[in-house]
Amino acid sequence: MTQSTWHDEKLIHAAIIMDGNGRWATAKGMPRIAGHRAGVQAARRVIEVAPDLGIRALTLYAFSADNWKRPAAEVRGLMALVEHFVRREVERCERQGVEVLAVGRRDRLPRSVRAAIEEAESRTRRGAKLTLRFALDYSSRDALVQAAALAGSDCASREAFAYALASVYGTPGRRLPEVDLLIRTAGEQRLSDFLLWESAYAELHFTPTLWPDFGEEDLRAAMSVYRQRNRTFGGLDEGRHALPALPAAPNGSQRRLA
Ligand code: IPE
Ligand code: IPE
Ligand code: MG
Repeated sequence: MTQSTWHDEKLIHAAIIMDGNGRWATAKGMPRIAGHRAGVQAARRVIEVAPDLGIRALTLYAFSADNWKRPAAEVRGLMALVEHFVRREVERCERQGVEVLAVGRRDRLPRSVRAAIEEAESRTRRGAKLTLRFALDYSSRDALVQAAALAGSDCASREAFAYALASVYGTPGRRLPEVDLLIRTAGEQRLSDFLLWESAYAELHFTPTLWPDFGEEDLRAAMSVYRQRNRTFGGLDEGRHALPALPAAPNGSQRRLA
């Protein structure tokens, strides 16, 4: 991936804290795992439309390092869903030019989940349309500590540190994609240890929509709001004006997903 890709202001890195699966299920009188299952469908919808909305990189928070505190049965269910999703999607990702990556610890993941991720990463290596990163057993603070240890005394600049962090994420030598747009669903307004370094100048978007209900229209709305923001990065308005509005959805309808 070329450096300019990340710097094209029309192509952005969006990161999503997919929250509210449990509440969605509970409100319907269903077990929490049913909410996670519906959440997987929402992820599928978002991945499908992201490139058409100007998203070049998408990081989805799928399982935090703190989520191990949940009941063992829920954790097992989540891991099974992740594995199933990655295995099922890999062919489509390969076909559609989607590069799949995972960030976070791997040593605590079930062996079969790790294997599914590694297979997806190697099969989709050439994908250039969308970089899709799953944050799994992820803690931003742990990643920062590791990057600091890795960089050691060489860590003389932000740039050097960012490269060390990219190495921690398993993409050594690649420019670390800063987050342009950070979305959190389900009405919560916190970061929960997600992409702390990369979100230094992220535009934040919070929506009450529960993740399983999130779809193309919600992403389109978030992108529209993002495109109206003026990002001055601490300076004055130097012509980085809001971007033009997005083209309307085809036929104003939701696209059909296989
Ligand atoms: C987000 O939904 C999914 C994960 C954290 C894996 P939650 O499971 O946190 O849903 P709520 O917040 O309990 O509704
Ligand atoms: C953050 O959601 C983690 C993921 C979405 C994977 P949580 O629901 O676990 O976070 P808190 O507990 O509300 O901060
Ligand atoms: Mg939650």
